[in-house]
Amino acid sequence: MFDFLKKKKSPIPLFEALGTDMHCHLIPGVDDGSTSIDETLSCLRIMQQAGYHKLYLSPHFNPPRYANDEDDIKSRFEELKAAVVADPELNIELLGIGGEYRIDGQFLDRMNQKPLLTVGGHNPEGNKESYLLVELSLHQQMFGIDEIIFEAQSKGYEVILAHPERYPYLAGNSKLLSQLKDQGVLFQVNVLSMSGFYGQPAFEKSMDLIRRGWVELLGTDMHNTIYANALLEATLNRNIQKVLEKYTFMNSKF
Ligand SMILES: [Fe+2]
Repeated sequence: MFDFLKKKKSPIPLFEALGTDMHCHLIPGVDDGSTSIDETLSCLRIMQQAGYHKLYLSPHFNPPRYANDEDDIKSRFEELKAAVVADPELNIELLGIGGEYRIDGQFLDRMNQKPLLTVGGHNPEGNKESYLLVELSLHQQMFGIDEIIFEAQSKGYEVILAHPERYPYLAGNSKLLSQLKDQGVLFQVNVLSMSGFYGQPAFEKSMDLIRRGWVELLGTDMHNTIYANALLEATLNRNIQKVLEKYTFMNSKF
């Protein structure tokens, strides 16, 4: 009855513990993420408020839907970087440009044609490595995913699987995920999966993977201001706060 008298809590910079995000769709107009520079800058302001201070961008490479070209994306990244540097309200550094590459029947051909966009980072020995973010189909399991990823690893890419908790066909089946873990694939769970943003199955799977100790990275998968505002709300989410208190992630190494 007196809910209106309750003081609304202010967001906190919870994600300072991570510092760096390497999964966001904020190059305007190239995928299903931000549609304008203003939208990107608004998202970045909110991410900064939530505690992030460095990030890599990761537009979709998923032809024919998102038939992005690495050279074009690199030049768009430089334009965005200049706009961010010129914005007096922003103190968030764009470290570089990677991609979110769909594992499909054409992936190996693409990989063999030209170098893929990777994000920087260091392995536990302190050596610089090339981290390649990949995603699977959200609808249908493809045969031979582990073999395709193994080929990428053999070429020297450190493969990061985006949001392993979001593939419905893997929700009740950890066999493929266990196989990928055994072959050294890093798992990046979406922060917002842990707040229920993507529904109950993704929430449960995200927590299951974290409790197994299979998750090395957290990503925002930021697309637009709806995601950004959900991220800001997530700074007050007790479940996410507890995860950040209990587990350590590799984000800050980037
Ligand atoms: Fe994504």
